[in-house]
Amino acid sequence: MVKRVLDQEVLREVKEKIQRGVLPQWAFANEDIYERELAHIYAKTWNFIGHESEIENPGDYITRWIVHDPVLLLRDSEGRIQAYLNSCSHRGTQLCSADFGSNKTFTCPYHGWTFNLSGELIGIVAGNQVYGEELDRSEWSLRKIPRVDSYQGMIFASLNPDVEPLEDFLGEMRWYFDIMLGRSDNGLEVRGVPHRWRVATNWKISSDNFGGDPYHTAMTHRSTVELGISPKDPLFASYGHQIVLKNGHGVNMITTKDGTTQNPYQGLPEEMWPMFARNLNEDQLDIFYRTVVIVGSCFPNLSFVSPMHGTGGPDEPLTSFVNFRVWRPLGPDEIEVWSWCLVDKDAPEVFKEASYKSYIGSFGPAGTLEQDDTEIWTRVVDASKGFMAQDKDVHYNNVLNYLMGLDRVTPDKDWPGPGTAYPTCYLDAISRSFYEHWVDLLID
Ligand code: FES
Ligand SMILES: [Fe+2]
Repeated sequence: MVKRVLDQEVLREVKEKIQRGVLPQWAFANEDIYERELAHIYAKTWNFIGHESEIENPGDYITRWIVHDPVLLLRDSEGRIQAYLNSCSHRGTQLCSADFGSNKTFTCPYHGWTFNLSGELIGIVAGNQVYGEELDRSEWSLRKIPRVDSYQGMIFASLNPDVEPLEDFLGEMRWYFDIMLGRSDNGLEVRGVPHRWRVATNWKISSDNFGGDPYHTAMTHRSTVELGISPKDPLFASYGHQIVLKNGHGVNMITTKDGTTQNPYQGLPEEMWPMFARNLNEDQLDIFYRTVVIVGSCFPNLSFVSPMHGTGGPDEPLTSFVNFRVWRPLGPDEIEVWSWCLVDKDAPEVFKEASYKSYIGSFGPAGTLEQDDTEIWTRVVDASKGFMAQDKDVHYNNVLNYLMGLDRVTPDKDWPGPGTAYPTCYLDAISRSFYEHWVDLLID
């Protein structure tokens, strides 16, 4: 049997498949797809790299990655945010190896070249004796990451100097980000440091899971049902709206069955409610009031979840948290999860602590729900590497089912927010839109 190679024709066939609600399984475990994703998606788009509260003062820095590009992100002496390639301009050594800290200068561990917060080369060991007059230091500054911008404290960077403005890229997603990130007078702050861990899966599986798959909750997280911290009703994660947004983004606003709530504003302290009314418009406020779980993905690999946890019993009131996570691709079958716990700066300390503990126990690296998910995601990739699943003859029956709700569930015209909102979250509408956007970029 002659194996087909990945070319434009195959990709166009994949697009037709996606529009009909199916996806070839080889997309999850294919080296050629991966290489194409790095060049056509990750090198061209905006990537989330950190939060402004992580580098509050001049000299504060953190080290991050845009897939395989190391990034040194810092606040310079004028208070501006700067991002450099974290690689020395002499021989390319990783310049700063600490996760975070505060510095006025960075000295390379290889030959000792020193750079300031503006990325300028300010010190060369034995410079005058070895280079004489001819070395123009200004030509050997740290290399800048072409574009950096932030929205509601969330810092994004792009390797593409011609990338569209960040506000346009986020587009309709901003309205929903504002509910989570813009509701408080002083915004949110990162609690602790971002956790990170590796999972043997493909980045699309986790983006797809958070973006468009509340359907998995009742089964994958069955242990939480058995513990009494999730409802017994198998439809519990379907209530509310799944909203398809432009650019491959999507969000699920999950409510209770009848839309009422015992815990307005996700159980955030009552003293904060007037602040929400100040910062959100009427529609956002109304939706936030009754939403129990906010979960979704910002294309390509930034996901978020803001759920409520606890038994709700007298000694354990429900608490919520905001968790943003990046699925950093390390290969077609491996990701590094980066996970930030965010809390409202203006929340009482007692709530901040409860919120953080709730995050740790559920979606932190050892959290119950986290382990449920990651275990399942590794199995998808494991089962996608074989000869049958990898056959690129797309007419062959090697596709996966993304048919839920296709041509059956119609949008709710009364939804006040942006995007196309469907009146259930058990739906593959976001996933279909995510993969259609994905394949469009690969074809480009
Ligand atoms: S590689 Fe950095 S000083 Fe030589
Ligand atoms: Fe899950």
